[in-house]
Amino acid sequence: MDSLIYLDNGATSFPKPESVYGFMNDFYRNNGVSPGRSGYDLSIETGNIVEDTRKAMTRFFNGQDHNRLVFSANSTDALNLAINGIVNPGDHVIATALEHNAVLRPLHHLTQYHGVEVDYLPFDEKGFVSPEDFRSAVKPNTTLVVVNHGSNVIGTVQPVKQIGQICREKNVPFLVDASQTAGKVAIDIQEMNIDILAFTGHKSLLGPTGIGGLYVGDNIEIRHTRAGGTGVKSAQRHHLEEYPYRLEYGTMNTVGIAGLFAGVQWLESQGMENIHAHEMALTRKLRDGLSAIDDVVCYCADDLAGHIGVLSFNILGQEALNVGTLLDGDYNIACRTGLQCAPMVHEQLGTATYGTVRMGFGPFNNDSHVDAALEAVAEIAAFLNR
Ligand SMILES: Cc1ncc(COP(=O)(O)O)c(C=O)c1O
Repeated sequence: MDSLIYLDNGATSFPKPESVYGFMNDFYRNNGVSPGRSGYDLSIETGNIVEDTRKAMTRFFNGQDHNRLVFSANSTDALNLAINGIVNPGDHVIATALEHNAVLRPLHHLTQYHGVEVDYLPFDEKGFVSPEDFRSAVKPNTTLVVVNHGSNVIGTVQPVKQIGQICREKNVPFLVDASQTAGKVAIDIQEMNIDILAFTGHKSLLGPTGIGGLYVGDNIEIRHTRAGGTGVKSAQRHHLEEYPYRLEYGTMNTVGIAGLFAGVQWLESQGMENIHAHEMALTRKLRDGLSAIDDVVCYCADDLAGHIGVLSFNILGQEALNVGTLLDGDYNIACRTGLQCAPMVHEQLGTATYGTVRMGFGPFNNDSHVDAALEAVAEIAAFLNR
């Protein structure tokens, strides 16, 4: 069988750059000890990669204080830390219909068990939320605005700078879920008025699974909703208040952090904007080709300005899952079907029953992958709707 054509980079990037595999392998063989917590040289050296990556990620997002960059297991973990550490019973939260379950579910639990009220702002027919809608949604008890920067269903990138400006004016903390955008588009926390940024390491930052983080702005306090070992001040019973320890618990995922470090280094060596331009060229080609196939509909993709390389489509009359199964079984093309963990997007698109077929590009995709996908979709559409 032909080799796999991987178009599921919206879920996780695959493959990673060779340098990521090599760096992780060397690191774990040579530095697989507890980082920094014991006084011996190797432990200190291992702790240094954690601190170097903390500094690298802080620079990457133009944060001001690397101690406020905390590592977590992924962005779901980071978003839970932020949401549960800020919102109190009876508070009001503003989010959007574009949110992933990593935000929807923590918020749902707060509404179910803690009397929290959430407003989900809709997106327009092109897939963008309006900053002004946030202004009118703020209430006296609004304690958090959370926005998905880049949609993992339709690929639209939200105007976070303008939304953040309104949050500043209203004095409401602004949390951005950058799971899809970190490593694809430049994120400048200061310039974009972002108070808290959640990222995951295994998508466009090209690191492995199991590592992510949160950057917490200077003026923002997040309660620790967990407690445990930090490796410092061990006699103290109360969990440490100071960052990064406040939001870090237990032995760090050092090998994941090392992979993230190597991923970001590779990204910077290639130029993030070059990779993004490459992925957008492939997305345009895919959109144009799909639009020319009878019975195929693309969602929110007429104009790909302000998008990342993630595209959703359907063959009219067909369940997305069937299309994905044929793409996989008959053409060896991997993509994602269904609701992509973002059910409210589909409710608004009218695709909540069967979802969509989603294709997402990474740095190692090329034109031949798009050609193969287009040929496959054309054949499947002709076959199923014959
Ligand atoms: C927009 C968005 N938010 C959050 C997540 C959760 O990421 P992770 O599974 O790495 O926690 C994803 C992953 O698909 C995503 O696309």
